[in-house]
Amino acid sequence: MCEIQTKKQGYEHFMLKEIYEQPKAITDTIAGRVGANNELDLTGEIPKNMVKNLENIIFIGCGTAYHASLFGKHLLEEYTDIYVSVEFASEYPYKKVRTNERTLVIVISQSGETADTLSAMRAAAAKGGKILAITNVVGSTIAREADAVMYTHAGPEVAVASTKAYVCQLTCLCLLAAYIQEQNYGRFDQDMIKELKLIPEKINQTLAVYEGTLESYANRFRDAGDAFFLGRGLDYASAMEGQLKLKETTYIHGEALAGGELRHGPMALIEPDVLVVALATQPELVDKMVSVLKEAKTRGADILLLAMDKEKDYSEAADKVLLIPETHPLLAPMLTVVLMQTLAYYTAKVRGCDVDKPRNLVKSVTVE
Ligand code: M6R
Repeated sequence: MCEIQTKKQGYEHFMLKEIYEQPKAITDTIAGRVGANNELDLTGEIPKNMVKNLENIIFIGCGTAYHASLFGKHLLEEYTDIYVSVEFASEYPYKKVRTNERTLVIVISQSGETADTLSAMRAAAAKGGKILAITNVVGSTIAREADAVMYTHAGPEVAVASTKAYVCQLTCLCLLAAYIQEQNYGRFDQDMIKELKLIPEKINQTLAVYEGTLESYANRFRDAGDAFFLGRGLDYASAMEGQLKLKETTYIHGEALAGGELRHGPMALIEPDVLVVALATQPELVDKMVSVLKEAKTRGADILLLAMDKEKDYSEAADKVLLIPETHPLLAPMLTVVLMQTLAYYTAKVRGCDVDKPRNLVKSVTVE
C-alpha cells in the first residue's frame, strides 16, 4: 500500500478522509469507460458474449457489497427483463439457486478476499455460472479466479466502515447495467450515464452544504439505543446501507425497513423521540413515504428526511429535511449515502467510539 495514500492527510480519521475522497474515486472509476459523447467502453473488460443470451443474473456479496448488489438488481430490472436475484455469499452455497451456463454471477467484494464470497463464487462456478467480479484489489483471489473483472478505482480503503468502495461499486453497477442493456437491446440510458459524470461534483456540493448540519445533528444520536432507517424501492437498499454504517461505527442498533412495512408491525415501536432516518428520493414513491412519515411523526418520532424534490411539502413529515442536489432518480443513492456516512461518522465521534476500527470487526473477513 502506497504510504502517502494511507496517511490521514490532516483528517482526524480515515473514515472522514475516505468520505471526502469519494468524488475522485468515482471519477477514477468512470475514467476510460465512458467516452466524451457518453459512449460505453467496457468490451475490453467484459466480453460481449458474457452478458448476452442470459437466463438469469445472480449477485453475491456480504455486508456493504450485498447492499450494492441490491442497487444493482434494481438497475438491471429497470433496464432489462432478465430475472435477477441477490444472495448473501454466506447463504448461496447452501441454497438451490438456479445457476447454469446461462447465468451471469456478479460477485462484489472490496477486498477480493472475503472467505464467504470466495466460497460462494467457487460454488457458482462449479455449477457453470459465468463469474464477473467487481473488486477494488488488483490481483486479489476473487479477481484471479473470476472469468472477468471490473475494478473499482477507490484506492486503498483503510477504515473498517466502507464508504468510497461502496460508491465505486455503485458506479461500476451503473456502467455495467447500461452495458448489459446496450448488448441486449441495442440502446442504453444515456441520460443516466451523463448524470453519473456529474455525481462527483454533486457529492462535493452535498458535503459543503450539510457536513456542519450533520455534525450537530449527531448529538441527537449520542445517547440513542435504536434508530430506524426507512425507504421504499431503491431508497430501501440505501436505508440498509445507512443502518449498517451507523450500527458498525456507533454500536447503535439500527433497523432498515421498507417504508410501506411500517404499518404492518414496526409502527408499534414508534414512540416519542424514536430516531428515524427516512429517504424519499424516488418520484413515484415520495407521496406514500410522506404519508407514512406523517403518521410516525404524530406518534412522536424524531425524523430526519433525505429528499430530492424541493417542490414537495415535507413540513408534517419530518423534523429536519436535507435536500440532495437534483439528479437522475437511479443515482440518488450515491448522494443520500454520503449524508448517512457523515451522520454515522459524527455520531461515532460524539459517542467516543473507535471510528476507524470498530470493536469486534476487521476490514476483511477471511474465515467462514
Ligand atoms: O471486502 P468485502 O467487500 O468482501 O467485505 C464485505 C463486508 O465484510 C464489508 O462490506 C463490511 O460489511 C463492511 N465493514 C461494511 O462497512
